[in-house]
Amino acid sequence: MGTHTLEADVPLALEHLTRPGLFRNWRTLHAPLRLHQPVYVEVGFGDGRFLRWMARQHPEALWVGIEVSSYSLQKCLKAAHREGIRNLLLFRGDAVHVLHRLFPDPTVEGLFLMFPDPWPKSRHEARRIYAAPLLNALIRVLRVGGTFTLATDHPLVDALAREGLAHLPGTFLPIEQGPWPTTKYEQKWRRLGRNIMRLVWRKDAHHAEKPVDGWEEESIMPHLRLPEEALEHSPDLVRGQVVRLHHGIVKILGVYRNEKEWLISTLVVDPPLGIRQPIHYLLHPYQGMALLHLEHPAEILITPAVKEGLRWLAERFSP
Ligand SMILES: C[S@@+](CC[C@H](N)C(=O)[O-])C[C@H]1O[C@@H](n2cnc3c(N)ncnc32)[C@H](O)[C@@H]1O
Repeated sequence: MGTHTLEADVPLALEHLTRPGLFRNWRTLHAPLRLHQPVYVEVGFGDGRFLRWMARQHPEALWVGIEVSSYSLQKCLKAAHREGIRNLLLFRGDAVHVLHRLFPDPTVEGLFLMFPDPWPKSRHEARRIYAAPLLNALIRVLRVGGTFTLATDHPLVDALAREGLAHLPGTFLPIEQGPWPTTKYEQKWRRLGRNIMRLVWRKDAHHAEKPVDGWEEESIMPHLRLPEEALEHSPDLVRGQVVRLHHGIVKILGVYRNEKEWLISTLVVDPPLGIRQPIHYLLHPYQGMALLHLEHPAEILITPAVKEGLRWLAERFSP
């Protein structure tokens, strides 16, 4: 794999290790976001072209994006990092949960939902983010006077959202044709000749809405199986070691062992994404073999460097 420790790379590594980055893990936020500027949120931003454009046009505001898809999030993160955008924060997860954690008080100026998945089947009802009660849970974060914008090609999405909003204290506003770019899905539906529907709604008073449960997080668990002897092999790992891999940088923070398992505590940096994450790799016995995997995978953005770090550690443990 051509991996090695490079002293010359340490300054580069340290620069990335100390940069806060645009990605945040909402589960490890101990306090709500402290806001010193107006905040706008896009839910399900996809490749993020709309969100990034808005963030560039309105540098005075903070733009928050929430996506369930790790792939989409990384795509947007990479582009935002390349474009040098600084007033953007991205979170991975189900928007209902993330919004609840980020904004316990209604402080958001504007909320955008552009071409949400239509989930037309009734058994998908619980996933319809544009229908009450999930919509109510989203709207809850808006301050009074804040606006909600929805765009869709799907009449059911439009109808359910209008119906849900009609029960809340607010006003439908005239639609403005902005200079903002069309989203990827808007372009797709336009090419197919579909009709695009939009609504803009202003919240006129608070409503008592309890946050609701969403659905389960996707469970991704990168892992590798090694021969059982790997557990007895002392890997060549040193605390403080900075290792440059093809996709990123891994810094070894600690190597711990008890009679059964190993814990390798690291900081993993993905320079193209501009992010760093504390990652704990675990090696323990499993069905006559040794299993190397990540602790709390659902709380991590599984990036190329995180996966590469797993493969690199597997090589260190290989007898
Ligand atoms: C049809 S795509 C639209 C993407 C983008 N807004 C556009 O217009 O090109 C819907 C997006 O919503 C995301 N999504 C679906 N449910 C979500 C949820 N509960 N929280 C956050 N994102 C969600 C999906 O991962 C997907 O990227």
